[in-house]
Amino acid sequence: MTTTAIRVEGIEKSYKDLHVLRGVDFEVASGSIFALLGSNGAGKTTMVKILSTLLKADGGSAAVEGFDVAAESLQVRQSISLTGQFAAVDEVLSGKENLILVAKLRHLKNPGQIADDLLAQFSLTEAGPRKVATYSGGMRRRLDIAMSLIGNPKVIFLDEPTTGLDPEARLEVWQIVKNLARQGTTVLLTTQYLDEAEHLADRIAILHEGRIIANGTLAELKQLLPPAKIEYVEKQPSLEDIFLALVGTGSTAPTGNNESVKDRS
Ligand SMILES: Nc1ncnc2c1ncn2[C@@H]1O[C@H](COP(=O)(O)OP(=O)(O)OP(=O)(O)O)[C@@H](O)[C@H]1O
Ligand SMILES: [Mg+2]
Repeated sequence: MTTTAIRVEGIEKSYKDLHVLRGVDFEVASGSIFALLGSNGAGKTTMVKILSTLLKADGGSAAVEGFDVAAESLQVRQSISLTGQFAAVDEVLSGKENLILVAKLRHLKNPGQIADDLLAQFSLTEAGPRKVATYSGGMRRRLDIAMSLIGNPKVIFLDEPTTGLDPEARLEVWQIVKNLARQGTTVLLTTQYLDEAEHLADRIAILHEGRIIANGTLAELKQLLPPAKIEYVEKQPSLEDIFLALVGTGSTAPTGNNESVKDRS
């Protein structure tokens, strides 16, 4: 039986005159990876902030692990962790000290042991005693995600977990996310990278002009566009083709849209 970890119904949010979320609905099954996809400014971070109780919605409702984000924010906070769009690690501390700090904040026993275990799990054992200021972008991201796992949250929110990472570091983060889901953690991630959603997510939702305009498995989303036929070779549309067809207006869609179909065959 699948249970629902996150339920979002009719969420609305404006910043003054800017109506960012205009009735967002979606559900995320427990233990699955859900990708929220959208262009810059679509409202992805806003949605994540509402779900992680950092921001109040103007309308609609949302629940995480059965707890209402507005009325039961304390219980929601105890069930989740958030890795923000910008790394939350302290540069002056070492990787290990960062982890110990979080473990202490969460009143856990044996913070040193927890830190060592996570450093090992994220291939940071050698770098552990070094100041974070000396870490590469990928190492910081790994440490950031490691910090968010302290206390074994049931649901984790990753806001653009791989933005700014090189391809190798991205693959490492993808592997971490997959392992988390395999262990039963529910992962909601936001991304602008279509291939990231394509590789990682069990379900993908596209947020556009304040609403979810498509929501499904990659296979379901592919059915929204017919396969393109090029010189006898049947090509399935990529998520990028689907995204651009759904989101792209004539004026903003890249002119190379059709070409990219051919180029990538
Ligand atoms: N505190 C705020 N006050 C006013 N406007 C805001 C605030 N936070 C976000 N916005 C605006 O709301 C819109 C949605 O922002 P949000 O950060 O949720 O988008 P996003 O999808 O996460 O974008 P990105 O891909 O760039 O991270 C943007 O136009 C942004 O400028
Ligand atoms: Mg954002």
